[in-house]
Amino acid sequence: MSRVVIIYDTKFGNTEKVARALAEGMKNQQVDVDCLKIDEVDTNELDDYDFLAIGGPTHIFGLSKPMKDFLQKLENINVSGKRAFAFDTKYKSRFSGSAGKKIEKKLKKLRMSIVKSSVSAIVKGKEGPLEDVAEETFKQIGIDIATSLQ
Ligand SMILES: Cc1cc2nc3c(=O)[nH]c(=O)nc-3n(C[C@H](O)[C@H](O)[C@H](O)COP(=O)(O)O)c2cc1C
Repeated sequence: MSRVVIIYDTKFGNTEKVARALAEGMKNQQVDVDCLKIDEVDTNELDDYDFLAIGGPTHIFGLSKPMKDFLQKLENINVSGKRAFAFDTKYKSRFSGSAGKKIEKKLKKLRMSIVKSSVSAIVKGKEGPLEDVAEETFKQIGIDIATSLQ
């Protein structure tokens, strides 16, 4: 059975909510999922997982500082060939940038296998709330990814 870790950064709690919705969808399909805040992750333990989902808030058109630091740490371990999915939270505007796209680009560079293009959950303001559909959408993505892993 695949072991999945969902790793998220969050400043105001919105990205945590979508990360947990993603985890809930996967758990519904009996997938073994850990959902960890970025500062709880020991990169040496990532070897135990077959699938990494990584998401964070969009800050200044791109990555938050903790996410930048984390992705840099990933360079020191071998994640090549593991499956992955990136996500973010952001404003609705198409000029707002997307942390998820940048995370995905980095994961590709690390030779991870992207199972689905990055998805953005939309926040209505800097501190949230999320758009009404966001958590339901991520739960469904969790179900779909988990089904594809079986
Ligand atoms: C310093 C800072 C810069 C931000 N820059 C952007 C941005 O360039 N584009 C965007 O869509 N949202 C931006 N935002 C809003 C974030 O998308 C929003 O705070 C985040 O999605 C909320 O997620 P969180 O509750 O997990 O922190 C910014 C927020 C902060 C605090």
